[in-house]
Amino acid sequence: MLLCLVEGAVYGVHDTCTHEAVSLSLGALCEHRLRCPLHGSEFDIRSGKVLDEPADTDLQTYSVYIDDGWVCLHE
Ligand code: FES
Repeated sequence: MLLCLVEGAVYGVHDTCTHEAVSLSLGALCEHRLRCPLHGSEFDIRSGKVLDEPADTDLQTYSVYIDDGWVCLHE
């Protein structure tokens, strides 16, 4: 899982790109757009939706929240 902190909110997404097996934690985050370091696919970390190719499969997201300084995962 990759945790992203944007404007005080935390988002959890699967760390592996849906195009090929590359860690997205090596990519770049610009506001809510997460860019894959290998071929440049972009995903919206709020929904997991593909925003730019070559990936054509959305990213899995996780429901996370901050509680008393801890990052927690909703089941
Ligand atoms: S591996 Fe991520 S876009 Fe190709």
